[in-house]
This record gives sequence, structure tokens and C-alpha cells, in this order.
Amino acid sequence: MSVSTAASASLNELKASYEALKARDLKLDLTRGKPSLAQLDLSAGLLDLPLSADHTSADGVDVRNYGGTDGLPELRAIYSELLGIPVPQLLALGNASLTVMHDVIVHSLLHGVPGNTVPWRDEQISFLCPVPGYDRHFAITEALGIRMIPLPYLESGRLDVTAIGEHLQDPSVRGMWLVPMYANPGGQTVTPEEAEALVSLPSAAADFRIFWDNAYAVHHLTDAEPAALDVLGLAAAAGHPDRPLVFASTSKVTLAGGGVSFFAASPANIDWYRLHAGVQTIGPDKVNQLRHARFLGSAEGVHAHMRRHRELLAPKFALVGRLLAERLTGHGSWTAPLGGYFVTLTAPTGTATRAVELAKAAGIAVTPAGAAFPYSDDPEDAVIRIAPSFPSLDDLEAAISGLCDCVLLAEAELAA
Ligand SMILES: Cc1ncc(COP(=O)(O)O)c(C=O)c1O
Repeated sequence: MSVSTAASASLNELKASYEALKARDLKLDLTRGKPSLAQLDLSAGLLDLPLSADHTSADGVDVRNYGGTDGLPELRAIYSELLGIPVPQLLALGNASLTVMHDVIVHSLLHGVPGNTVPWRDEQISFLCPVPGYDRHFAITEALGIRMIPLPYLESGRLDVTAIGEHLQDPSVRGMWLVPMYANPGGQTVTPEEAEALVSLPSAAADFRIFWDNAYAVHHLTDAEPAALDVLGLAAAAGHPDRPLVFASTSKVTLAGGGVSFFAASPANIDWYRLHAGVQTIGPDKVNQLRHARFLGSAEGVHAHMRRHRELLAPKFALVGRLLAERLTGHGSWTAPLGGYFVTLTAPTGTATRAVELAKAAGIAVTPAGAAFPYSDDPEDAVIRIAPSFPSLDDLEAAISGLCDCVLLAEAELAA
């Protein structure tokens, strides 16, 4: 049999498998990194807490009333320990860290920042965007008219610190998105050396900010439970105390969308944030904050809780890794993250859009190809983000196996 006959035989076989997949009439979803129902049940106690008899915070504030814009001290103390940030530099805020990131950028556009009171909107500014990255970060910067510069990770998975240093010579570069632990979606964790370089590199703009989104700071999938890097301390030591802006939340610790967010920065940045946020709100939801402080109890309480999440999540990541190895070895590569919520599949070049389209037609929803890139532009059309947390193990097996069929068919179609 000639090579092309062999290829078309396998194309026909792959088409037949795909038709069989479609006939199963699946309705599966691998799109968003949502906690599963079993994970949400781990926080059932949060909803059972009786607050009606005791609604006073540690500093004697009645949480039922307005006020306390910095958030409850007892909850800030827990996250201070988890993130390695002094309490005065860490605020406990509303239900979503993404809102805080959005608002910080809007305040910067309208009012400028410490170190440069010229509003960012007065110039065409740019953000560095490590890719693949988090689609909602890119949605914020795109919606607010900020130019995005894609910054591919190196083959080794490390940040391209040399390229970052070069980009920082451009005075339009005012920001950089970064998920420093178990990045969404690539799973990379910033090393202490990289962090030190990031806060030390000279920049043409005095007001360059790193949006250090530590969304997965305590979301380990292995026994190694690295502590969050003290990026604020490193930045202060490097003479750039205002450079990092730290974000975190309990969205994937307790209830997604019903948790508490955190913002931490240098004293100057915190004062700046207070000034502008004080116009927006009379204070965060302290009732929910008190519930969280009592339910989580301590930093160790959070770690214990996260180990229960891990028991539910780790088998799902293991299943994804096993299926991808069984079905796609020689047809792409994928990550094996040590924490966080995502696996990144790098399919053969030029196949991601088609594979996602085939999967959708077979009832398997996958995040659109390109979503992990600014302007949805994946130059290789290869990256597919897999979110294994929500489906049951059985559904996950069906979804990943179906997705593998789609990748193989897309590849064979391209080669035909
Ligand atoms: C990197 C990252 N940051 C932020 C968020 C959203 O956080 P929040 O619910 O606190 O807005 C997510 C959710 O997927 C995320 O992956």
C-alpha cells in the first residue's frame, strides 16, 4: 500500500470513529475551570454558619453595617500568612478578583498611578501578555483599549526574561499580566529567580506594573506545596516597591463567585487604591468575609481544605494525562501541571480550530481555539485549553477521548 493510500485509509477510519462519536449524542463541557459540585459541597459549612447571634468581627465591628473598606482583619490575617504579605498591605474586598483587576486598570487609565499622575488613557499604552494566558485578562485589556503584546513562554516553559527586558525599554509598556503559580492555562510557576528579575529589570516607564494574579496560590495537586513568593518584598528590595499588584481570591477555595477577593501592594499603591475605591463603595460584603474567616479558621485550615479539593481534582488530572498519552503520543504535547485548574494541549500545528469545531459538533464543548491568546490569535493554531475540574470522571473520560478523536481527524484532514 502506498503512503497516500495508508493515509486515506486512516482518514476513513478516523472519520468512521468520529461519526460513531457523534452518534453518541454527548453533551459534555470542558470549557470553564469551574469547581465540581463535590468541590462546592466541601464548603457546605460556610452556608450553615449561624451568624445571627454573633455578627461582630475580631475588632468589634458589627458586620451587618456599612464601613470597613479594608475588609475584616481576621480574614486578612489568614491570607496575609498564605500570601506572605503584611496585613496592612493586604485588603479583603468583594466577590471577584477580576473586578478588582478591571477597576485598578480603570483607575490607572483615569487618574494615573503613584509615580506618574498622567492618566494612562492620555497615551496608547501596552501590556505584556505571556502566552498562552488567561482569556479574561485579555478581554479586560482589549475592552479598555490597551495594546497587548504576546510574550511566548520559552520551550522550557520558563518566562522569556530577556524579551521582557527588551520590551521594557518601550515606554508605552505599563503593565504585564502574570499568573505566578500554576498559570492559567499552561500551569507554569514563576521561580524565585524569575520573580527577582521581573521586579529588578529597568523599565523606560517609571509606572510599569505587574498584575500578579495569584489565583491558584494554594491550589496544589501534589505533596509539594510551595509557598507564595514574597514578590512585594523582592520588589521593595530591588528599589521598585510599586511594581507588583497582587490579586487573589477564594473563588476556587470556597464558592466560585460567592467568595472573597484580595488585593495587595506597596503602601503607596494601597493608599492610591483606597482613595479611588472609596468613591466606588462604602465597603465590601463583611458578612461573607466573617463567614469565610470562621469557616476557614486559619492558614492551616485553608491548606487542609485545599487538600480535600486535591483529593477530588488529582484523579481527574491523572485521567486526562493518561488518556492524552494513550491517544495522542506523537500527535502533539500537553502539560502535566502540579496545581491549578488546567491542562494545555498543544495539538499539531494548524489543527486546533478544526478540532474544537469537530468536538463541538459532537457535543463536546471546548474553549474556543485561540482564546488563550490576545485578540484570540494563536499563530500556530495549536493550543487547546482543557478544564478537567467540573465533569465527573466518566464524563471526563468520554470528553477527552472524544477530543482526541477530533484532534486526530483534524490532523489527518490537514495532511490529506
Ligand atoms: C488566573 C485567574 N484569575 C482570576 C480568575 C477569576 O477569579 P475571581 O473569581 O476571583 O474573579 C480566574 C478564574 O478562572 C483565573 O483563572
